[in-house]
Amino acid sequence: MQHYSPAVERVLDHMSEVRGGKLDLSWMNSNPGGWGVRATPRDERGLGLEDLNQVGIYGEVPDHGGEHGSMAPRGAEVPADTPALGCYDINDKSLVWADNVALLYDEAVARQWSSARDVPWDKLKPLPDDLEKAMCQLCTGLTEVEFIAGDMPAKWMWHINHDFHEVKCFLATQIADEARHLEVFRKRALANGGGLLKASPGSEQLLRAIIEAPDYTTASSLMHILAEGFVLTLFRNGEMLALSEVEKKIFRLCMQDEARHVAYGTMHLKYFLEKHPERAEDIHEILRHGEEAIFGLSMEPQTSEPRAILAGGGVDHIFEGMAKLGYLYTKQVREYLHRLKVAGLDRSSRLAIPLELPS
Ligand SMILES: [Fe+2]
Ligand SMILES: [Fe+2]
Repeated sequence: MQHYSPAVERVLDHMSEVRGGKLDLSWMNSNPGGWGVRATPRDERGLGLEDLNQVGIYGEVPDHGGEHGSMAPRGAEVPADTPALGCYDINDKSLVWADNVALLYDEAVARQWSSARDVPWDKLKPLPDDLEKAMCQLCTGLTEVEFIAGDMPAKWMWHINHDFHEVKCFLATQIADEARHLEVFRKRALANGGGLLKASPGSEQLLRAIIEAPDYTTASSLMHILAEGFVLTLFRNGEMLALSEVEKKIFRLCMQDEARHVAYGTMHLKYFLEKHPERAEDIHEILRHGEEAIFGLSMEPQTSEPRAILAGGGVDHIFEGMAKLGYLYTKQVREYLHRLKVAGLDRSSRLAIPLELPS
């Protein structure tokens, strides 16, 4: 006869009791306060995560996450003997929350796209060497930086208390978005007779600051508001750099995703500063560091020159392109300052970099 461990034997004993008619069924009477709800879609977009927060106890997001420290779903009855997982140390809502986060998750899920299917790759045509090289260098740089916005949420996600599942779900969509951004720019570099060109030591400085930021909100301010904010303004003006329908479509699709990431970061910082106004100086300090890093990066030849060639329309028009990039830079800085203002942080008088590039 087969011998099993005591734990398996206990289950087998229990199963024979059940076969003998000894049922428990106590779970049927658990959580009476959470029973009898009927979540309904608010509109034609269907039943969203946000809609679940409109019903009964399920929309009550605690200021401090469940002390039980388990993955028990928010709103369920948690038995006293539920073991804590011991991994959640971001337990305060204010450290991760944004009031728009569930809606942003719903939008992210609805607007997923495929770089294989949704980009008209057949519209690529052979290009003069200077333009193809400039596009490939731009794509090399974007491929290098895009996944920081996957790595940063991945670093923090498993620390976040399970009661804030909306935030974790949203960050999961961001990781998927960034994977797609990484691969779509890599695809563009490899799809038209070119290839990857030169990596960027300057980028690595900024990426290191994001990954080494001491806590989630400083990391988020650096990444969601500063770095992704600059990228969002760049993609919004993608027509300036695009050479064909292919790049236009890529920039447009990535822009939708970045807009969500920046919207989350802005509203998270707002929520955080409302609860912790005394932390404003920490945010100023990390942003000062980030501004200097992004400025250094944007002046690096492998970053600035290909963009100027694309904006000007060829290496012979690189100075016209630089003038256009100067205009774009000012727009990036102004939009960044505006987002911070929305979040409740006025950096206009403390900006560590020029508002306009010297002409
Ligand atoms: Fe991205
Ligand atoms: Fe992003």
